[in-house]
Amino acid sequence: MIGAWSAGKLQEKSSSILHLRYTLDKPVIAIMLYPHTNHPMSDISDDIYSEAHRMVGRDEKQQQLNQQGGVFWFYGLSGSGKSTLAIALQHKLHQAGHTVQVLDGDTIRTGLNKDLGFTDEDRQENIRRIAEVAKLFANAGIITLVSFITPKRALRSAARKIVGNDDFHEIYVRASFEECERRDVKGLYAKANAGGVKHFTGKDSGFEEPESAELIIDTEGAPLNQSLATLSDYVTPHISKQAKP
Ligand code: ADX
Repeated sequence: MIGAWSAGKLQEKSSSILHLRYTLDKPVIAIMLYPHTNHPMSDISDDIYSEAHRMVGRDEKQQQLNQQGGVFWFYGLSGSGKSTLAIALQHKLHQAGHTVQVLDGDTIRTGLNKDLGFTDEDRQENIRRIAEVAKLFANAGIITLVSFITPKRALRSAARKIVGNDDFHEIYVRASFEECERRDVKGLYAKANAGGVKHFTGKDSGFEEPESAELIIDTEGAPLNQSLATLSDYVTPHISKQAKP
């Protein structure tokens, strides 16, 4: 016999962790098995039972709204035109009879996310919460236009993972840092240049251009009505009731 297996249970805070241990003289190889519902990192508690199956379903809601829900994630530098485009699209779709919700950084950060700043960790939590909220809206059959800087590729893919690939559309609203600085709609670029804004995106906090995006709207190269037409052409087939079964 070159070794022996042993099994046991460790108590860690409120959770127990099963472990299998193979002892081979020395060192000891230990394989920890984390039961999904018991692991301290798990977000599913043993005491939560979903009632979702008893609720009115997404299909029925979409039927009533006569549309297909989904998440259109607008991202880009502050001042690139994300919210302007999202709001213009919202009005256009609303006039056509659709139910459309806009979630944008400046609004959400004064309520749900007012405890968060602009460090990498806070931006990650900001995006995680918004992705969860957007998913709830999409599952209610609502066309959801999300407007957040979402500066890193990892943040965008984390949001996609939460929302689900089928419902997630990345829309990069592109304008160079210099152009956004020139526009400086909120006066933040001037304030950041004077040292008054910490972790300012594109200055002392990075922005990663996309490797791939479902759609790129270049707001430096085209006027708003042209960008809106491009956007609308992309979005319309995805929100029509026939888009998905
Ligand atoms: S994100 O990076 O976490 O996605 P979010 O879109 O929520 O950012 O917030 C960006 C908005 O917050 C900007 O439009 C701007 O008005 C404001 N803001 C305040 N401080 C900063 C900062 N340091 N960097 C970028 N935007 C900031």
